[in-house]
Amino acid sequence: MEDTLESILAEVRAKVPELKTRAAFEAFKATISGPKGSLTQAAKGMGKVPAAERPAMGKLINRTKQEVEALWTASLAAIEERELRLKLGPPIDPTLPSPDSSPAARHPLTQIRQEMNAIFRKIGFTVAEGPELETEWFCFDALNTPADHPARDVQDTLFMPSEVKAANVTKHQVERYILRTHTSTVQIRTLLREQPPVRIIAPGRVFRRDTVDATHSANFHQLEGLYVDRAVTVKDLKSVLDYFVREVFGKGAKTRLRPSFFPFTEPSFEMDFMSPNLGKLSNKWMEIMGCGMVDPNVLTSVNLDPDRWSGYAFGMGIERIAMIVHGIDDIRHFYASDLRFLKQFA
Ligand code: PHE
Repeated sequence: MEDTLESILAEVRAKVPELKTRAAFEAFKATISGPKGSLTQAAKGMGKVPAAERPAMGKLINRTKQEVEALWTASLAAIEERELRLKLGPPIDPTLPSPDSSPAARHPLTQIRQEMNAIFRKIGFTVAEGPELETEWFCFDALNTPADHPARDVQDTLFMPSEVKAANVTKHQVERYILRTHTSTVQIRTLLREQPPVRIIAPGRVFRRDTVDATHSANFHQLEGLYVDRAVTVKDLKSVLDYFVREVFGKGAKTRLRPSFFPFTEPSFEMDFMSPNLGKLSNKWMEIMGCGMVDPNVLTSVNLDPDRWSGYAFGMGIERIAMIVHGIDDIRHFYASDLRFLKQFA
């Protein structure tokens, strides 16, 4: 009896690793544990065992049954794992990136800004920068906008607390730090650093105390342009703007300059454009930027002689351009980080 149990156990141990399918497993299991199986039959032999040996023999049978049971469980688990692997293909490496996560993409505002930069670079403009934390002189005084000037209220400014120190932003005089309300500050910073001819664009973030709604944000982006050289005319300005709108809005786009006022340009204009390629917005005049000829007082504040030098400047909202190009009706979409919005530009 002992030998029989020993050999059944050995047989199961040897056979189990070879079982690859459920059918093979069930068939083999029946020959051991089924009603006619060898282990079942051996257990029935208990009746013939002399009474004195029965308790020991009973224990041995139970232990054998338990061991065989454990082998069945392990074998079935191995078979199920194999089935799963066959269904899923090669084993999964959990350290790899998920195949269905979308690839990174540039934000729509970044895309437009880079396109605008490229358009101006093609005709000789270089990209200039200035700090977002600014001083009153660079943002207003040097741009012919004195402290009592009404334009200073219109551009409702965000002032920094008086104790703020910014070692990397040079003050020109005793003045307060502010967050720049427009990128025109870069006109001044550039002209103090470089001698004309100067031909720059300055894309960047600006800040205003605006109440946020579909077309206003307290924080948005502008792209400034400045050209200073000898004998620059309105015609030069107009031809660069014509080129720009045709690049952005398509071949048939047209511009018109309407008289306007900015303290730092004289004469000043608002530029409207229209384009036949804009769906619902086609062939409607839309205002997209302020511009004009650099005011002589601005040249004087950066130590340039207005009799020798002249120039033009323009400034526009990057969000506004992006909204027109993509037909977006609410500026807040740009800042909400909603993937349903962002994925449309991926
Ligand atoms: N700085 C003006 C604004 O923020 C735009 C502008 C720039 C106008 C350059 C004229 C010349 O609205």
